[in-house]
Amino acid sequence: MLPRLRLAQAGPEFSRLAYGTWRLLNDAEHPTPRALLERLQRCADLGLTTIDTAEIYGGYRVEEAIGAALALDKGLRARLEIVTKAGIYVPNAFHPNRKVSYYDASGARLIKSAEKSLRFLGVDHLDLLLVHRPDWLTSPDDTAEGLNRLLKDGKIRCAGVSNYNVHQLEALDARVSQPLVTNQVEFSLLRMDPIFDGVTDQCQRLGIKPMAWSPLGQGRLMRRDDEAGVRVQQAAAEMAPRYDGATVDQLAFAWILAHPSRPMPIIGSNRIERIESAVRAASITLSREDWYALWTAAQGRRIP
Ligand SMILES: NC(=O)c1ccc[n+]([C@@H]2O[C@H](COP(=O)([O-])OP(=O)(O)OC[C@H]3O[C@@H](n4cnc5c(N)ncnc54)[C@H](OP(=O)(O)O)[C@@H]3O)[C@@H](O)[C@H]2O)c1
Repeated sequence: MLPRLRLAQAGPEFSRLAYGTWRLLNDAEHPTPRALLERLQRCADLGLTTIDTAEIYGGYRVEEAIGAALALDKGLRARLEIVTKAGIYVPNAFHPNRKVSYYDASGARLIKSAEKSLRFLGVDHLDLLLVHRPDWLTSPDDTAEGLNRLLKDGKIRCAGVSNYNVHQLEALDARVSQPLVTNQVEFSLLRMDPIFDGVTDQCQRLGIKPMAWSPLGQGRLMRRDDEAGVRVQQAAAEMAPRYDGATVDQLAFAWILAHPSRPMPIIGSNRIERIESAVRAASITLSREDWYALWTAAQGRRIP
């Protein structure tokens, strides 16, 4: 069973990894509510209870698809933690009047989006709401006002941000009634920015855990035509016997999990066998040398 994790010391528990739904409707054939229900039930049985989604996913349709699956099993919602995001608005068939894509992290907009997410998902609260991207046109006071209202009304259990830099997180954190619990950022062997730009250091200072999106570099780590991916595959093959034959994806998840900021990786695949494989990574403890060997392979250079 997958271990549990508190993103913030005083906050609620989540699973050590999350299941991400960005690609849920990517295939030409969308999963039926029944098929998605079975996948979510299997995730819950594995202890993978945290589901990451966003208002914008699947052209604003993913939350509705999750809601349709949850409606088939009234008991399932209580076994899950639902994380969603708000703040990105793009022109599409539902919104023909939008001329350009834009961010809106104003309090009023966040409240409207969160209430829509609650309706689409068919739930009475969100376990975690994230501001999807920093909006350069909104003050942190305005964003905080919306988050504080949602927290006060019990519509969200806690709040966080995504893709914020350290200054943006600090400015918002100083204004919310309940400290932010995470910064969800791109973090993988192929995207190490958070360990260089201060994000993971800030999380450790504040006692919160980052969430790591695209943990396999959007699949690049598994490709045969990606130079850095191939270097990592070779390094992973060399160390696999020391980890009970662990696969590249598992070692890539284990690499993220080993970071002292204790990131929560978000699994991107919709294939149950790949989800199960990722969950098994939580029991791998990489040695210091192997963690650095993967760092070296991914970077294509020795440590400075
Ligand atoms: N906050 C943000 O701005 C943000 C941005 C992007 C993503 N996210 C979140 O992060 C989640 C994960 O992102 P991601 O989908 O880019 O993750 P990822 O794990 O880096 O990439 C998943 C992709 O890798 C492919 N893949 C190939 N071989 C695989 C293997 N052996 N095991 C697993 N996957 C393999 C998957 O294909 P198959 O599907 O065919 O398995 C899928 O297309 C998203 O679902 C979303 O919840 C957040």
